[in-house]
Amino acid sequence: MIKIFHLTFVLLSITSFVGRIYFAEKRPEMLEQKWIKIGPHIVNSLLLLTGFILVFQGQWLSGEYGWIVAKIIALLGYIGLGMVAIKNQGALRWKAFAGALACFVYIAIVAVSKNAFFFL
Ligand code: HEM
Repeated sequence: MIKIFHLTFVLLSITSFVGRIYFAEKRPEMLEQKWIKIGPHIVNSLLLLTGFILVFQGQWLSGEYGWIVAKIIALLGYIGLGMVAIKNQGALRWKAFAGALACFVYIAIVAVSKNAFFFL
C-alpha cells in the first residue's frame, strides 16, 4: 500500500517538475501562484517520507543497502539540479534540466534493480 503511495508521489514529483519548467518558459507568472509554489514541496516531502517508511517496512537496512544510499545521493542531484533549472534561463536551464532528468531515471532504475551499479 505504501509502495503505491510512493509511486504516486514519484509520478507527481516528475510531473510537477516538468510542469514548472514549462511554466517558467511559457508562462512565468504562473510560478507566483501559491499552490504551484507549495504543492511540489508537499509532494517531494511525501515522496521522501514514503521512501523512508518503505526502507523500514522492508527491513532493507539489514541487508545490502548500497542502492538506498545511491538513491538518496541521486535524489540530492535531482533536487539541486531541479532548483538550478527552475531559477536559471537559457543553456544553463536546459543542462540542469537534462541532469535532473538523468538523476530521476537513474533513481528509478536503481529502485527496480536494487543495484547502484546496474550499468557495469
Ligand atoms: C525521485 C525519487 C524516487 C524515485 C523515482 C523512486 C522510485 C521507486 C520505484 C520505481 C520503486 C518500485 C520498485 C519496485 O517495485 O521494484 C521504489 C520503491 C522503493 N523506494 Fe523509491 N524512489 C524515489 C525516492 C526514494 C527515496 C528517497 C527512498 C528512501 C529514502 C526510497 C526508497 C524506496 C524503497 C525502500 C522501495 C521499496 C523497494 C521494494 O520493496 O521493492 N525511494 N522507488
